[in-house]
Amino acid sequence: MSTPVLELRNVNKSFGPIDVLHDISLKVRAGEVLCLLGDNGAGKSTLIKTLAGVHEPTTGKILMDGEEVTFTRPKDAADRGISTVHQFGGTFPLMTIGRSFFVGVEPTKKIGPFTVFDRKTANETAVKAVREFGITRIDDGDRLIGGLSGGERQSLAIARAVHFGARVLILDEPRPLWV
Ligand SMILES: Nc1ncnc2c1ncn2[C@@H]1O[C@H](COP(=O)(O)OP(=O)(O)OP(=O)(O)O)[C@@H](O)[C@H]1O
Ligand SMILES: [Mg+2]
Repeated sequence: MSTPVLELRNVNKSFGPIDVLHDISLKVRAGEVLCLLGDNGAGKSTLIKTLAGVHEPTTGKILMDGEEVTFTRPKDAADRGISTVHQFGGTFPLMTIGRSFFVGVEPTKKIGPFTVFDRKTANETAVKAVREFGITRIDDGDRLIGGLSGGERQSLAIARAVHFGARVLILDEPRPLWV
């Protein structure tokens, strides 16, 4: 069998005296879909945040392609191709669709000696990506995220993860419009 893209070995996570994750082991291979079920407060989001570099495991190992990895911040996980749509947040209410889509990886253009944010490219790309996802009501990349519905925001976050070529796409209770 192929080496798992992502593997957890005996991962535990505590917040001070509160033990949330107990000995979690799992393997995900290329092309597989893994579904995580649990009651409210069971620890699903905590596990996802541990995979996304938001939390470090208290003990246990995370492996990618059979190699142990340590994520001390979300960028470490993102750099390895782990893209996460969190249960809450993930987009920025006071930003436009185009800016929120490209936050941290902004397209730029030159105006004379200056390098500036390429708003037109960002808006067009973001709107196209989210429309390809079926959210055809969005046609203006200058709209503020704060004015979108919950499902539209989550769809935008998923479209962004897909656009940037996630190797591992993690969705924490996404609620797209068609559900
Ligand atoms: N930063 C934190 N500090 C302390 N306790 C936390 C922290 N984050 C989560 N917890 C606790 O860990 C437990 C698991 O929370 P988590 O958000 O992972 O649950 P969940 O399975 O995602 O629940 P839901 O289905 O409601 O989204 C809860 O009891 C929660 O209160
Ligand atoms: Mg949760």
